[in-house]
Formats: sequence, structure tokens, C-alpha cells
Amino acid sequence: MHPKKIIIAVDGHSSCGKSTLSKQLAQILKYNYIDTGAMYRAVTLYALRNGLIENKVVYKAGLIAQLTSITITFQFNDQTQKSDTYLNGENIENEIRELTVSNNVSPVATIKEVRDAMVLLQQKMGKNKGIVMDGRDIGTVVFPEAELKLFMTASSTVRAQRRFDELTANGSSVTFDEILKNVEERDYIDSNRAESPLKQAEGALILDNSNTSREDQLKWVLAKVKAVINEN
Ligand code: DC
Repeated sequence: MHPKKIIIAVDGHSSCGKSTLSKQLAQILKYNYIDTGAMYRAVTLYALRNGLIENKVVYKAGLIAQLTSITITFQFNDQTQKSDTYLNGENIENEIRELTVSNNVSPVATIKEVRDAMVLLQQKMGKNKGIVMDGRDIGTVVFPEAELKLFMTASSTVRAQRRFDELTANGSSVTFDEILKNVEERDYIDSNRAESPLKQAEGALILDNSNTSREDQLKWVLAKVKAVINEN
């Protein structure tokens, strides 16, 4: 008999390893992985390219009117063994990780109409279960009924260092201080916005990985997954 498929909702602060853990879980369990941050980043890239954001101020009415012109899909890349994000058929996986997008994504993610459209898409993607989805509102809004919810966090300096290492390894010339400022600014907006602020979902397990290795964390979570699958 096949084990029952569940939904794993992973929420938490930016750059605390949500996507790394989620991808590992998806690979081991043979589940789909959906990076919902990439979806908000894709909308932000669209807005930047179409003159709908200037100095972090979004031309809301314009963006809302064009939401139906934005198609976001994911496609598995055999070469990198990772899923890439596509905006209207174009692979934008690298571009959405750049600092211009990071600096503008929070105001876009505060817009109710943008969130409603993304949540609907996310719920469709998870309707057959067998999914690991990471973001800020997965356990609270997208899948409040998820069988396993995780809330991940780590100190802001640890997170800024991780993102700094990632970006410099990809050739970006950034300073640690600007990354730290970006991380703290996003924490503030994500946790204090009116629409679906980041908060621990009811029943979520907390994972603070400031001082935990990725291996230990994965082992711990896998044990929880097993327990949940067996009891369902
Ligand atoms: O996880 P990330 O850093 O790629 O997310 C990018 C931004 O999108 C971040 O500022 C928070 C926002 N976001 C959100 O509001 N809701 C989600 N489910 C995922 C991301």
C-alpha cells in the first residue's frame, strides 16, 4: 500500500533555509516542491519591467489591472535538478534572486489582489497533496488544514550571512550591510503588513536553526513527517 500523501507547509522568515529544507523533503518523499516566494518575486519582476514600481512604490491599480497578463509556472530543470520559475514562458529563475527584485518584493506582496491570485494558484497546485510548499502564509492562509506545519527562523545576522554567501558565490557585488538591511526591512514588512502577516500557524512546529546543522534539522523533520504519515 502506498503511504498517504500529505501537505507540508513551511513558513518562516526570509533566508532561514526554508527552501533548502523543503527541496530536500520533496526529493526524499517524491513530493512536488513549490516556492511561493518565487511567485511574488515573479510578479515583482513583471512590475519592474513594466514601469509599475518606482522607488519601492507600486502603481497598484496598474498592477492589479495587469494581473491576468501574468502567468507563473514551474518547470523542472534536468541540468540543475531544481525547479525553475517561468514568467509568461520565460525562465526568470536567476533574475528574481537579484537584489533589485528582493528590494521591491515586499510592497508587492502586501497587495491583497496579488495575494488572492497567488493563493488561488497555490491551492490548485496542492489539491492532490504530496506537496511541500514554503512561504509566509502557507500554514495560516493557503493550507490551514495541512497535516504538517513548520515555522522556521534564525537570527537576522546568521540569515544575512547566508544570503550574502549565496549572492557573492553567484557573482553579485553586494555588501554584507546592505544584505542585513534588506533582511531586517523585509522581516519588518512581512510581519507587520495588514494582509496575511507572517506568523506562526496554529499547530506549527518551531525550528530555530541559528545553531543547528542542516543534517540534524532534516533528520528531526523527517521523523516528524514519518509520525504524521503513520498516524494519518
Ligand atoms: O521567500 P522569499 O524571500 O523568496 O520571499 C520573497 C518575498 O515574498 C518576501 O518579502 C515575502 C513575500 N512572500 C509572501 O508574502 N508570502 C509568501 N507565501 C511567500 C513570500
